[in-house]
Amino acid sequence: MNKSILVLAILICTAMAAGIKTPDTRKYKFIFFTEECFDTFFVQKDFANVSCIKFTLSKALGTGIVVFSTILKVPQIIKIVKNKSVEGLSFPALISETFLYFFTVSYNLFKQNSFSLYGENVFIIFQNIVIMALFYVYGKNFSIAKLFTTYILFGVVVGPLLLQIAPTKLYDFAMIINIVLFFFGRAPQIYSNFKNKSTGQLAAITVLLNLSGCVARTFTVLTEAPDFFVLLNNFEAVILNGTIFAQLLIYWKNTPARAHHSAKKNQ
Ligand SMILES: *[C@@H]1O[C@H](CO)[C@@H](O)[C@H](O)[C@H]1NC(C)=O
Repeated sequence: MNKSILVLAILICTAMAAGIKTPDTRKYKFIFFTEECFDTFFVQKDFANVSCIKFTLSKALGTGIVVFSTILKVPQIIKIVKNKSVEGLSFPALISETFLYFFTVSYNLFKQNSFSLYGENVFIIFQNIVIMALFYVYGKNFSIAKLFTTYILFGVVVGPLLLQIAPTKLYDFAMIINIVLFFFGRAPQIYSNFKNKSTGQLAAITVLLNLSGCVARTFTVLTEAPDFFVLLNNFEAVILNGTIFAQLLIYWKNTPARAHHSAKKNQ
C-alpha cells in the first residue's frame, strides 16, 4: 500500500515535469548545449570558448540538481513509513517551506526561465505533499480535514500565481515573502545551535547538501538568467546555510554523538 503511494507520487512528478514546457527561447542540442555552443565545440572544434564552457557547465549542473531533487526527500519518507511516525517533523514548517517552493516556481514561470533553473522546487513540492499526507496516516490527532484544508489553502493562494493570472506586482511580492519565510525557517536553527554550542541532531550531509545546492544554483542563475529577486533569495540561502555549515564545523566536538565517538578513540 505504502509502496504504491510512493510509486504513484513519482509517476505524477515525472508527468508534471514533462508537462511543463520550457519557454526558454534558446535552442538546445543534447540537453546541455545551445546550438551555438554545440557548433563552437563540435564543428569549429573550439574547446576553449569560456562563455560556452560556463553555459554548458551551468546547464549540466542545473539539470543535475533537478534530477537529484526527485529523490531528495525519499530517505525522509522511507524513515517515516518504517517508523510509522512523523515525530520530530513540524507540519507548520513543512507548510511554510512548501509555500516558498510554490512561490519560486510561480515566479520562474512568470519570468519564463528554463526548467533546469528551478525544477527542483517542483519535485520537492510533490515530496512535501506526500510527507503531509503521511502526517495524516501516522500523525496523532491529525484529521483529514486539516490535511485537505492545507491542500485547499495551497490551491487558493498559489493557484492564480501558478496559472499566471495574478497581478504582475504579486510575483515580486511573492519573492519578498520568500526571503522572509526562508529567514524564519533557518534563524531558529542558527539560534539554537548558537545557544547550545552544538548542532545537535542536524545531519552533516543535509547541511552540506543545502549549502552546495544553493551555491550551485547561484552559479547557474548568474550564468543563464541573472534576475534580481532570484539572486537575492539565493544569496540569502548561501549566507544562512553557510552560517549553519560554519556552526557545524565550529561546534563539531560538542555534538554528543561525535564527542562520545572521539572520547572512545582517546581511551
Ligand atoms: C564563443 O561561442 C559563442 C557561440 O558560438 C560565440 O558567440 C562567441 O563569440 C565565442 N567567443 C569566443 C571568445 O570565441
